[in-house]
Amino acid sequence: MVKVAPSILSADFSNLSAELKKVERAGADLIHVDIMDGHFVPNITIGPVVVKYMRKATRLALDVHLMIENPLKYIDAFVNAGSDMITVHIEAVSLKELASIAKRLKGKGIKLGISLNPTTSLARIKKALPLVDFVLVMSVNPGFGGQAFIPSALKKIRQLRAIFKKDIAVDGGINRITGRQVKEAGANILAAGSYIFGAKNTRKAINSLR
Ligand code: DX5
Ligand code: ZN
Repeated sequence: MVKVAPSILSADFSNLSAELKKVERAGADLIHVDIMDGHFVPNITIGPVVVKYMRKATRLALDVHLMIENPLKYIDAFVNAGSDMITVHIEAVSLKELASIAKRLKGKGIKLGISLNPTTSLARIKKALPLVDFVLVMSVNPGFGGQAFIPSALKKIRQLRAIFKKDIAVDGGINRITGRQVKEAGANILAAGSYIFGAKNTRKAINSLR
């Protein structure tokens, strides 16, 4: 079963509530929320305040992707804002910090994910795997929506699938074609921004990824 997570980064932020309703009605499974701090990535988006109001505007699970430095410092804020899934980057945490994040989420029903950039090897997340519920494989360099899919992600997903039985999410450049490729490689959660929010028919776009 593949889950589709529209990335709100490509939505109209002046109309978030309507945008959330639109993808909800069109059959989205999760809402992918991109948090950028201008340090870990060269772009700035939103923080916990907006997540808190998004929580009120949809009944879908909020899949919060933290592209920030020092995520441990902000974990409680994103937990309190109503996140259902929280992903941190391996490039931004030590194993020890990841373990404390896992501890803070434990018993709260919030899933923890670890993400890795296109240039980061799978070996780098091996020790993190027992601590997380899912892995988010980046198929673009994080920072912006609308970039082209980097094909080396496919090999990474395949290799990860061979050793990891839980959820594998993919983020960046996902469309009808790359969506099929990542599914075949073993991914089961597809985050997609421009493909879904740029589509004339939102339901059709979401279904084409499933
Ligand atoms: C990239 C973000 C992605 C982005 C995907 O840094 O993490 O979630 O919104 O956008 P598309 O699907 O347009 O590549
Ligand atoms: Zn993302």
